[in-house]
Amino acid sequence: MKVGGREMRAVEWSEDGIRHIDQRALPERVAIATARSVEDAARAIETMAVRGAPLIGVFAAYALALAAKRGEPLDAAAERLLRTRPTAVNLARGLDAVRGAADAASALAAARAYDDAGVAAAAAIGRHGLALFRHGTRVLTHCNAGWLAVQDWGTALAPVYLAAREGLAPFVIVGETRPRLQGARLTTWELREEGIAHALIADGAAAHLIQRGAVDLVLTGADRIAANGDAANKIGTYGRALAARAHAIPFYVAAPLTTIDRACATGDAIPIEERDAEEVLTAEGADAGGVVTRVRLAPEGTRALNPAFDVTPAHLIAGIVTEVGIVPATVAGIAEAFRRTKD
Ligand code: MRU
Repeated sequence: MKVGGREMRAVEWSEDGIRHIDQRALPERVAIATARSVEDAARAIETMAVRGAPLIGVFAAYALALAAKRGEPLDAAAERLLRTRPTAVNLARGLDAVRGAADAASALAAARAYDDAGVAAAAAIGRHGLALFRHGTRVLTHCNAGWLAVQDWGTALAPVYLAAREGLAPFVIVGETRPRLQGARLTTWELREEGIAHALIADGAAAHLIQRGAVDLVLTGADRIAANGDAANKIGTYGRALAARAHAIPFYVAAPLTTIDRACATGDAIPIEERDAEEVLTAEGADAGGVVTRVRLAPEGTRALNPAFDVTPAHLIAGIVTEVGIVPATVAGIAEAFRRTKD
């Protein structure tokens, strides 16, 4: 995708290390950082400088290539990276793609191949998801499932980008996504850069807008999908799915097959990340002079709970938009998707 007319990627291998957008600085500025060690990469994932399920998989794959280049043991590096965040299964997929490499050159080749396959999958998700769009479709999304989360395209936003290029004039309603505000900070930024019409809403406004007929389609990404189609995604997704079902609005999940974890029989087996309570108790933003400050939102000493993801049960999901087509969120639908990859 282009930023200010310049082609940019969220994550990129370079001779110095892994160059990446530091997503914590957006939307105030586009900051480029370089992870020069496995520890740098692990910290970038933990602090969410690099985030989004498929992207952390790609980043972790390159981090193992970095370990191989530095002559470090891949197993120890993979263990460190795997400990960073528990919910997105793509992290393990990226590590598995590289950890068996015999030398630095083959580790880098494996990481690049994993990255390229992810880009191709995201582009295919865009093409399949286009079927959900008519002229002027008003789509509600949550969190950030665009090219900052999935190299070059996104998952939920990939069909939106294609719909816009096809002249279908989609309108995106963006949930702010407390506490980290990925919707407010990242999705709005991406959409503005692409010139796509959108409006930001407070998280609490989603059900009201669905009830009032302002939403035609709900489309989100996922961090891990169980074998039965239950889908973990950013906290707040489940509430949107419930509201969509109550008002007969279709709720779809867009995700590559690398997000499906058939070792989890149902969503109950998906580990849900608990993050620091400070994320809920404070908020960060720029003041009128553009200086970024963190402010306290609740009385000192308030206790807060901060589950970072929730699980939407499969029966609320109209379908999963994958790189091999839109499949039902069922055991059979998921089995069919994997069968298609063998054709
Ligand atoms: O905590 P984050 O920002 O990494 O969470 C990201 C999400 O929940 C996205 O919706 C998900 O990774 C899908 S991205 C294509």
